Amino acid sequence: MVLCNLKTEGFRCLTALEFTPGEGLNVIAGDNAQGKTSILEAILFAATSKSHRTTREAELVQYGRPGFRVHASGQRNSRSVTVDATWWQGEKRFKVNGVAQGKVSDILGKMPVVFFSPEDVALVRGSAAVRRKFLDMEISQLEPAYLRALQQYRTALKQRNELLKQNGREPALLDAWDEQLIRHGRVLVERRNAFIKELGCAAVAAYETIASQEPFTLRYLPDVSPDQDHARVLTQYRERDRSQGLTNRGPHRDDFELTVSGKPARHFASQGQQRTAALALKLAELKLVCERIGEYPVFMLDDVLSELDAKRSERLFQAIPQTVQCLVTTTAMTAPAAPSGVHCTCFHIRSGTLAPA
Ligand SMILES: Nc1ncnc2c1ncn2[C@@H]1O[C@H](COP(=O)(O)OP(=O)(O)OP(=O)(O)O)[C@@H](O)[C@H]1O
Ligand SMILES: [Mg+2]
Repeated sequence: MVLCNLKTEGFRCLTALEFTPGEGLNVIAGDNAQGKTSILEAILFAATSKSHRTTREAELVQYGRPGFRVHASGQRNSRSVTVDATWWQGEKRFKVNGVAQGKVSDILGKMPVVFFSPEDVALVRGSAAVRRKFLDMEISQLEPAYLRALQQYRTALKQRNELLKQNGREPALLDAWDEQLIRHGRVLVERRNAFIKELGCAAVAAYETIASQEPFTLRYLPDVSPDQDHARVLTQYRERDRSQGLTNRGPHRDDFELTVSGKPARHFASQGQQRTAALALKLAELKLVCERIGEYPVFMLDDVLSELDAKRSERLFQAIPQTVQCLVTTTAMTAPAAPSGVHCTCFHIRSGTLAPA
């Protein structure tokens, strides 16, 4: 995937933006609060209908305006693709190649992107819920069957919890929901297990390229492991579940563990190591998506260089495959050195106005 052009009107602080990135590496430099993240956010919105910073889309509208428009065009598997996203007085609409999309979710995958933001360090440092959300998002995008199982699992969990809150005195009903949890939970555990193995291989290789002296691992921690009897676990916990009005055990409590030099990265890794680990996950995601769709997504890296030393920064760009179109923001005056053979285009942004550097 190559993004050829981006236009925005009324989006955050950007003033009638027109951005024409090149192939290879694109560096958007500027001081703090000039609009660097807003450009990547606009691309993410066109690609996924979501912002990484907020779920309240009204916040994306430039102060004092009634709405915004984002137009993105690019080449997907050598075919032209355009996305027009508008948000007008609370309503969002998407067109792909000029055709209105019935469901906003239909635009997913039309313009594949992988986004790294500084907040992604929460994948390493944050709670298990952050890592589960990552797993669910990634696997759902790759496998529709996973998304269906996830939705059914969540419905069953919600219903079971409702029943437990009402004291759960209908064992037959609880049995029925247990059966649903077991059936759909099995799909989640199987797919998560396979995905983490695949992601882990790619992430370990990426981490090694950036910091070769620090062994890195990724391990799935299912709350109920596949060799345990899920039905028995639910039965064992039923009384406790009843008294607490919630379901204590199951895939909704899963996690995965990242280690650096043999120690859990969440508690022991330095900030630079945690950032390296989060980046390794994103690089792995890039590879996995490429294997599924036959080309690399656009790779967006927001403020990636802070907290990485010069050596890690240099190696990061070596870890990115040469055919990836990469958009990098930085506050540094000097652009990161592109590996030899990679074309680099530089832009500068000031008060929401972008210009070639
Ligand atoms: N809806 C909005 N309308 C207008 N301006 C906004 C809106 N939302 C945020 N801003 C402002 O846009 C400016 C640029 O924000 P942005 O996060 O893109 O900056 P940045 O260049 O990434 O900065 P940093 O280097 O600190 O990350 C900020 O001053 C912010 O307050
Ligand atoms: Mg920023």
